[in-house]
Amino acid sequence: MTTSNNPAGDTTILIFGASGDLTTRKLIPALFQLSRQNYLNERCPVIGVARREKSDEQFRNELKASILADNDDDESVAAWDRFSKQLFYRQVDITSEADYVSLRQAAVDLEQQLGTQGNVPRIVYLATMPSLFDDAVRGLHASGMIPTERKDSDRLRVVVEKPFGHDLKSAELLNEQLRKRLHEDQIYRIDHYLGKETVQNILLFRFGNVFFEPLLNRNHVDNVQITVAESIGMEGNRGGYYDTSGALRDVLQNHLLQLLCLVGMDPPALFQAREIRDEKMKLLQALRPGTDGHVDSWAVRGQYTDGLVNKQPALAYRDEERVPANSSRETYVAMHVEIDNWRWAGVPFYLRTGKRMSERVTEIAIQFKHPPLNLFSTIECDGDLCNIVEARRNQLVLRIQPRESIFLGFSTKRPGMQYQVQPVAMDFDYEDHFTSQLPEAYERLLLDVMRGDSTLFTRSDELLAAWRFVAPVLQHWESGPVGLEFYPAGTWGPSVADRMLAESRRVWREPKV
Ligand code: BG6
Repeated sequence: MTTSNNPAGDTTILIFGASGDLTTRKLIPALFQLSRQNYLNERCPVIGVARREKSDEQFRNELKASILADNDDDESVAAWDRFSKQLFYRQVDITSEADYVSLRQAAVDLEQQLGTQGNVPRIVYLATMPSLFDDAVRGLHASGMIPTERKDSDRLRVVVEKPFGHDLKSAELLNEQLRKRLHEDQIYRIDHYLGKETVQNILLFRFGNVFFEPLLNRNHVDNVQITVAESIGMEGNRGGYYDTSGALRDVLQNHLLQLLCLVGMDPPALFQAREIRDEKMKLLQALRPGTDGHVDSWAVRGQYTDGLVNKQPALAYRDEERVPANSSRETYVAMHVEIDNWRWAGVPFYLRTGKRMSERVTEIAIQFKHPPLNLFSTIECDGDLCNIVEARRNQLVLRIQPRESIFLGFSTKRPGMQYQVQPVAMDFDYEDHFTSQLPEAYERLLLDVMRGDSTLFTRSDELLAAWRFVAPVLQHWESGPVGLEFYPAGTWGPSVADRMLAESRRVWREPKV
């Protein structure tokens, strides 16, 4: 969906938080892949920055051990050896302004050493705790790394990672801190969902084809269900962080609302960052709670108890490491929301996300209205008990992961002497059509920062609108252990979430992976 197909020119990349997990697991592997595919040329220094003392050699060796652990064929080792020559490490105390002066000098020296073209854009990736963003930007400013002339502003791009705030107020504060010294177009707020290949395809699928778009509105759609389900729990000691966050902040406020924007927004006039983000923003402004009633009637929160996931026993959330035994943090959230505009008025959007659910699956299921007259129903009998089985709703499912695909569910006549209805599907599966592996989200996103294309990044007004929308829910839940429902690990969430749909005679789709 990104607007640029240009290769990236020379850049210098500085990664703050170079000793962290994100750098080792995502950022360096993504840059390594970009280098292998010739998207990152050998003139671009990649400088890891962290507090610990470390030599370039140590930094390179640590990363090599981790990145080539499962992949040490000759070709990968040779590619790594080439790539590692542009990899450096500098010790910096993020809170010390003096250290930024040496860092700037190091960047200049390394650019000279690698023959980088003069005055290249520098990218500063803040893979650190958000509480350090302010210090980092202050240090960059003090060292003169932030261009003072507006016309040169593109020569410094700052990438920030979530969590971008804990609520509306803290997100506003974080924004203010960044905006004190940076222009909005210098800030790239990462939501890695937007870098996923299948997420980028949503807009092309909708606005690059003529079949589907005319149907995607209140005249034809009965409801839309967006699911981000995970089967993992609190692996890798994540409990400590997660217990300060929860499913609403961790996934719904960002990834899920971004998916909602892409499936619900109107077509942009131009396929460019500003126009696309303006349309997303209009949708976020039109969001409203699914009912006029109390928060509990349109938002459900749940927490997993022990159970079986993929036939393996799984602990209860409260028994996970670093999670308080009386935690009321939600590991599941479901919401009924509506979009107050001409396209979608009256169409319920059901959102849900959770840990320790039956399957790992992310999908958008658009369920259509029944035909105006039901001519074809099947009578199915079990002994003396007979039921009229109506044709299922037509549905269009955009499967983001795993087994990336798009399928259309519809009814057909079961061969035979009677008119019997059989649900079937037309299926487009990425694996069947494309032999190459789908790129990792971080590869795409880092390349876009290098190209200076901000389409796939969250603009500050979008971010604040998303926080504003979830604010009443957060406020209600923070007021005490209200409305917390439990669900066994390995299921599709608490039954109250089923009731939320049952009131309007709808059911959650059970994704078959
Ligand atoms: C992250 C959340 O942003 O997204 C994690 O912090 C979650 O809790 C992850 O597991 C899900 O991402 P993906 O790409 O695995 O669907």
